[in-house]
Amino acid sequence: RLVNAHNMVEAAHKNKFAIGHFNINNLEWTKAILEAAQETNTPTIIATSEGAIKYMGGVETVVGMVNGLLNNLNITVPVALHLDHGQTVEMCKKAIDAGYSSVMFDGSHLPYADNVAKTKEVVAYANQFEVSVEAEIGSIGGEEDGVVGQGELGDPKEAAEVSKLGISMLAAGIGNIHGKYPEWWKSLSFETLQALQQAAPFPMVLHGGSGIPQDQVEKAISMGISKINVNTELQLAFRDATRAYIEAGKDLDDVNKGFDPRKLLAPGYKALKTTFVELTGWFGSQGKA
Ligand code: G3H
Ligand code: ZN
Repeated sequence: RLVNAHNMVEAAHKNKFAIGHFNINNLEWTKAILEAAQETNTPTIIATSEGAIKYMGGVETVVGMVNGLLNNLNITVPVALHLDHGQTVEMCKKAIDAGYSSVMFDGSHLPYADNVAKTKEVVAYANQFEVSVEAEIGSIGGEEDGVVGQGELGDPKEAAEVSKLGISMLAAGIGNIHGKYPEWWKSLSFETLQALQQAAPFPMVLHGGSGIPQDQVEKAISMGISKINVNTELQLAFRDATRAYIEAGKDLDDVNKGFDPRKLLAPGYKALKTTFVELTGWFGSQGKA
């Protein structure tokens, strides 16, 4: 059974580790993450962007697939199903109605007052179903599934206010960027993170979790980051493993049916599991179920 993300991120914030949030796209992604979570005893957040939801057919498909796998694979570690970067109050409600246990309302594209008002609306609705809510202040640089941000740093005063709206976790711009980090990028803004945590000692979310050096990830966790969002890193791992399979000509092996999608997708699937284990090792969330 799905659980919300509240207790996970609370425990993470208190004990200085971070929960991994992993974006899924299909059955292989979901199965790989759930299996790896179970094998490593890791509480985990499975997330879908609005784009991924569309790709998979809709929220009911996602909820059905995730719940089916939780049962069939006997997953007993805490797993939350989370809407990533929900752009509207309606989308958040739709995900909650379908069975999501956690939602992000991303009002970073709105004027601050509207962001606050709509976050409150989502919290009021989510509370009725014990669904956890993530809000965002400032913005994340780069682009993810059509969500574009300028990378404004989070404001400590806003962090203090928004963290009191009944949310469970707060995303803030701290120099993080979606997608691959550009050449010129050097570091997260630890100054900003420190100021935010001083104003709001609260579970904070690091978006753009792919491609940040391990020492910076660990430092961010030690300073109050309690959830780390990973999408691109999984895509690259899947791409590399699939490319290696095809470049080795294994898909052309008619004798062993290398073209069977279950074989063709297997290396990528295994790479997803390996990436999960490596990253949750950095995050310190293994064995915390
Ligand atoms: O919301 C999802 C994450 O912020 C994805 O970040 O592109 O660095 O994996 P990423
Ligand atoms: Zn994000």
